[in-house]
Amino acid sequence: MSDDAILILGDEQYRFPVREGTEGERAIDIQDLRARTGYVTLDPGYANTGSCRSAITFIDGEQGILRYRGIPIEQFEREPNFVEAAWLLIFGHLPNPEEYKTFSENLTACANLDESMKHHFEGFPRSAPPMAILSAMINALSCFHPEYFELEDKDHFRCAAAGLISKIRTIAAYAYRHSIGQPYIYPNPALRYVPNFLHMMFSQPYAEHECDPIVRDAINLVLLLHADHEQNCSTSTVRMVGSSQANLFASCAAGVCALWGPLHGGANVAVLQMLEQIHQGRISPEEYVRLAKDRDSKVRLMGFGHRVYKNFDPRARMLGKVAERLLPTLGVRDPLLDIARRLEEIALEDPYFVDRQLYPNVDFYSGIIMRAVGIPTNMFTVMFAIGRLPGWIAHWWEQSQTQGSKIARPRQLYVGPGFTDHVPKDERM
Ligand code: ACO
Repeated sequence: MSDDAILILGDEQYRFPVREGTEGERAIDIQDLRARTGYVTLDPGYANTGSCRSAITFIDGEQGILRYRGIPIEQFEREPNFVEAAWLLIFGHLPNPEEYKTFSENLTACANLDESMKHHFEGFPRSAPPMAILSAMINALSCFHPEYFELEDKDHFRCAAAGLISKIRTIAAYAYRHSIGQPYIYPNPALRYVPNFLHMMFSQPYAEHECDPIVRDAINLVLLLHADHEQNCSTSTVRMVGSSQANLFASCAAGVCALWGPLHGGANVAVLQMLEQIHQGRISPEEYVRLAKDRDSKVRLMGFGHRVYKNFDPRARMLGKVAERLLPTLGVRDPLLDIARRLEEIALEDPYFVDRQLYPNVDFYSGIIMRAVGIPTNMFTVMFAIGRLPGWIAHWWEQSQTQGSKIARPRQLYVGPGFTDHVPKDERM
């Protein structure tokens, strides 16, 4: 009772309970605010709105902490395994050997697309953005797998989840192959998740792509570090679509669309474009930062800043280290890495960025890593989507399993015209 929040509206006082999360985060529970007071809250961008209770991922943006099901993200660095992390996020615990084996087998069994689905790729122009293809084809999975419309129990859900996690990389690779006019490469059941993806991306019918273990580990880590980030734009989209009881494929297809934008997953492409621009000598790092600070320019320092992190994004730290290690090992000398380091240096000493607590985010270094292993720039956001999929699935499932879960339907403050009469066509000016 003493912890209640008190709201005073005119002469009336209202008490609202304060709910506490595992890590001491506090939320004022206003579920019955409108019913009791007639008021709604106004929070554009939802920066102060907790949309749900969730047990999947914890972020402390002030401290730069990220944990999957309680496990600090840094602990995944030594043995990065995306499939294990996917299981953890979706099912709440690290898989035991039996669970891991079965899940891996499920992934292998589901890797192929229905053969007629392959022909859908032909309908897209070569220049089609791979994110558009990805979203369309994930949605199209609904047509080929109606057996997953209604998920009866956890086992049924596990099959749907494995199917989607496995097929997304086949769709992604086919989208790429289509864009370069090369034959689709079927998945190889002998290969693990990441090598199989790289095989479908880069093998030729006459020459098998060989996956360097260093590359495998780097991509595993990239995917793993993107795997969940609580109620971000795309995950909230998946939850919102899922709240209408839309199926898993439809909900995740919507997540892909939300991720596409340059303020979200599309930022990894925007970072590369920014670095390229500087590299080509069209603008210096100093001038770029100056423009990014100018309120009259639309330029932003891409890969910097975050709604939640007001400190280093731990994922950016880890990816920065991977880039430093990976490039020399592969014998890659990428001037864009030096430019990124220079921009970081300038921004971290600039009061504009310091005062606003703007630090590198996950997108700042991920592109440099992907570029070093041969992933083309237009596939960067697709890679993010492959990585983020387990998070979307985990949230979709968590929501569907929450007792009393409601359709997501925010209110608004209407500021349009008051009552206005319709004017017949021939009387309009
Ligand atoms: N460059 C320059 N200024 C910035 C940047 C940036 N990258 N990011 C924020 N700011 C400034 C804003 O102009 C604003 O300044 P003001 O207070 O003088 O008006 C202040 O910092 C706060 O920024 P907001 O846009 O209000 O912060 P918000 O939380 O809404 O946005 C976002 C977060 C979208 C990530 C923003 O920092 C941004 O646009 N960053 C660049 C794009 C990017 O890297 N996106 C990837 C995010 S991570 C992810 O989705 C995986």
